[in-house]
Formats: sequence, C-alpha cells, structure tokens
Amino acid sequence: MTLHSMASSESAGGGSSVVVVANRLPVDRVRHSDGTDGWKRSPGGLVSALAPVMRKQDGSWIGWVGSPDEAPEPFHSDGMDLVAVSLSAEEIEHYYEGFSNATLWPPYHDVIVPAEFHREWWDAYVRVNRRFAAAAAEVASEGAIVWVQDYQLQLVPMQLREMRPDLKIGFFLHIPFPPGELFAQLPWRRQIMQGLLGADLVGFQREGAAGNFLDIATRYTPARRVSSSQVVIDGRRVTAAAFPISLDVDEVETLASDESTQARAAAMREELGSPQHVLLGVDRLDYTKGIRHRLKAWSELLADGDVTPQDAVFVQVATPSRERVDAYQALRDEIELEVGHINGEHGTIGTSPIHYLHSTYDRPELVAMFLAADVAVVTPLRDGMNLVAKEYVAARIDNRGSVVLSEFAGAADQLTDAVLVNPHDIDGLKAALLEAMHMPEREQERRMRSMRNQVKNYDVARWAGEFIACLRDECQ
Ligand code: ADP
Ligand code: G6P
Repeated sequence: MTLHSMASSESAGGGSSVVVVANRLPVDRVRHSDGTDGWKRSPGGLVSALAPVMRKQDGSWIGWVGSPDEAPEPFHSDGMDLVAVSLSAEEIEHYYEGFSNATLWPPYHDVIVPAEFHREWWDAYVRVNRRFAAAAAEVASEGAIVWVQDYQLQLVPMQLREMRPDLKIGFFLHIPFPPGELFAQLPWRRQIMQGLLGADLVGFQREGAAGNFLDIATRYTPARRVSSSQVVIDGRRVTAAAFPISLDVDEVETLASDESTQARAAAMREELGSPQHVLLGVDRLDYTKGIRHRLKAWSELLADGDVTPQDAVFVQVATPSRERVDAYQALRDEIELEVGHINGEHGTIGTSPIHYLHSTYDRPELVAMFLAADVAVVTPLRDGMNLVAKEYVAARIDNRGSVVLSEFAGAADQLTDAVLVNPHDIDGLKAALLEAMHMPEREQERRMRSMRNQVKNYDVARWAGEFIACLRDECQ
C-alpha cells in the first residue's frame, strides 16, 4: 500500500509511539549523473537539529521527499523510519513555494520583503496540511506523541486532533512568531491560530514569540488566558513556551577532533593565501540572513583601508535555497553582482577579498571551514535561532575564534559572549568585524569557553527531552 492510500484512511492506529511530522524528510531524493536515484541530506536547521534526535529514538518521520509526485513506500534511511507524503508540482508551487515561503515567511521575518496573498495558495495549504495530518493519524499508535514541526504545517495540530483525539500533540515553530501587528495582515489569521491551538504544547525559539502567540490567540479565537503560559479553549489547556533549539554537539566535536578535518582546515587556509584573518559566513541564500548588509560592511572596510585583501579574506558560503521563489532569485542576482563588484574593485592578481561559494557541503568539510575561520559572521536581519553560530562554537575545541552575531537571531539569547550587533547599523557592523578580527587571544578564549559551556550544557538531546517531558505534563 502506498502512503497516499494509507493516508486516505483516517481511522486510528499505526505502530509508532513517537511521530515527527515535518514538511521535509531529513533526506531529499536526488538523481545522480549516471541516472540512478539516491538520497542526500535535506537543507536547513530543522533537519540538522532533529535528525540526530530521531536517529537515537524509535519512531517515524513523516515528510516530503523534495521532488514532485514521489511517494516511495515507508523506508529506512540513516537510522530513521521515514514515511513519504507526495506533493504534486502544483502543490509545490502553491503550498510550499507560495503559501509557506511567499505568504508566511515574510511576515514571520519582519516583512523584509512584502508578503503575497492568494486564495488558491491558501486552499492548497489547507489540503496539503490535511494530507500530512492523515498520514500522522495512520502511523501513530494509540496515545502516541506526535510532534509537528514548523510554519508549513500550522493547521496539522487541529486537523489531527479531529482525526485522533487520543494523541498527545506537540508543535514546534523553528522560525520567529511575529507580533500581533504583523500577524494581523494575514487574511487567514483566525484559521491559523485555530490550527495551532489543536496542539497541547506549542514551542517557540524565544520567550517573546510565545508571548506573541498567547496574545494573538486570545485576540482571534475564543481562547482564554489562564496563566502566564497557558490558554484554555474548548475546555482544553494549551501551553506555549520557549524551547531554544540546539545541535548535536558530540557530532561536531568528533569531526573537529579528527586529524583529517584539521588537516583539511590547514589546507584551506593555505589555499586562501594564508591571510592573517579569515572571516566566514555560512547561510542558506535567504534575504533574512543579512548577506547584503554584511557585504556592504566588508566593502566599506576595504574602501576605507581598514582591511586589505592581503591580510583578510571573507568566505561566504551560500546554500542554494527556494530557487523558484521570486525574492530568492532577486537576492541571488544582487549578491552575485555585489561580490563581483567588490572583487573587481579591491582584488589584485592572486587576491580576492571575497570568496563566494554557492554550494552545499558535507559535514566534515563544513566543520573544517569552521576550524579554518578566525571569525564567524552570523548577522541575520531576523532568524528563529541560527544553528550555524552554535555549530561554529561547538567546532572550536581549541577555544579560539570569535563570533559576530546579530541580536535578531534567537542564538543571541544563549551566546551572550559573542560580539553582538545590529546588522542594520553598517558602522556598528564594521566596528564589530574589526573588534572580532583584532580580539586578543585571551579574550577569545574566555568568551569561547563560556559559549562552549552554554552549547554543551544545552544540546539538542536536552532540547528534545525537555519538550517531550513538557508535552507529557512534566514541564520543569
Ligand atoms: P536555516 O535553518 O534558516 O537554514 P540555521 O543556521 O539554523 O538556518 O541552519 C542551517 C543548517 O544548514 C546548519 O546546520 C548549517 O550547518 C547547514 N548549512 C548551511 N549552509 C550549508 C552549506 N552550504 N552546506 C552544508 N550545510 C549547510
Ligand atoms: C528553515 C525552516 C525549515 C526549512 C529550512 C530549509 O530552517 O525553519 O522548516 O526546512 O529552512 O528550507 P526549505 O524550504 O529548503 O525546506
């Protein structure tokens, strides 16, 4: 039986006691050049964080394989039981590229680009959310925990509750949750809140987001506030709280300790011309990440003569992302133009002040980049968490290096020893880059030790454990 036919039945009872439901599976379908099919790790922080948790846990992960009309039978990959939900090409356009990434993503990130509202996109969102809910209803055992992930699936909690009232349903939002003034613009604000309120526990990256959610819930639904973190609706309590996500520190530390990773890091520095300072940005190519602002600051530092291409190199790694969405295409053009401009203006034969890599790398290569870089530049205009900042810290087992971090990333709440910056303030950003580049080694070590302690004490296993405990009514 294919998942599609499984999902059309809405009666109780599969075999999984823990089910994760996310838009994407942790692996994407790829076609190799020899014509054979395979799998590769899916992009983004959600998968980076949850995959290590689910590898150590019996349970199923329900999601889409990343290409149209594919629904392989449930399969096992990379230590996880995976159940695929099929999306047609039109659903990818309307539900994923459209409603998720051109309607919801902008207002949830301060409307950095305008949101688009189309009723047929909403219809696809409702329909596809119901398909995911039905798949979860089919796979979950009696009384199971179902943990729904992220903004693409905000209707699933209520749709699933209607199908399977026996389940414990958690929802975690990986991205920011906007203030009421921005959320109010959504023509479907009431339905989205009702969808989320189907969960028993709704988790956010930051306290402020949980507060926004509780305020908005009482504004647009009959929910009544009964405590600082709870509302009651239809006689049910719904809790909202912050659970800042983290990473698998052991995985990154193991890679960073490996001699071959360290040798690769040393080779990278040589390939870059052994400059005194290597600065590194690693991001999905997304307008929320502040890449343009960063490049502007770098270009001004070069123009002012505060840095020279002989002694400092900026490496910007930009993972291709959502390439069919207009705002992402425009961003790519702008960034590539600007990189060309900076290198043309300030480069010499044998030096390029910016190395721009529009590509995805495997984990060992990424960790080697972290080890090769003196400064991690993490300056999003708005970001739910930003795991790259935490990964850089986890990789620096030598307690060296510094982090320039936007105060608008969730990670700023935990990495308080980073050089914190407002990325809109270009002069402030330039000063922060120079401060990080010239930070004395003892100061680097003091700050890095403190940030590493934070990340090691609160890794992703603890994040997941606390969320699930809270969902089981054992909130600390
Ligand atoms: P987002 O979830 O918005 O993409 P995060 O910083 O939270 O942002 O997570 C990004 C994840 O993707 C991190 O685990 C990071 O290591 C990974 N990543 C980012 N860029 C690349 C790349 N070019 N190649 C491989 N992995 C990448
Ligand atoms: C962010 C979102 C995830 C998403 C990821 C990659 O991390 O929170 O839900 O999966 O970006 O984006 P994509 O659109 O490629 O899934």
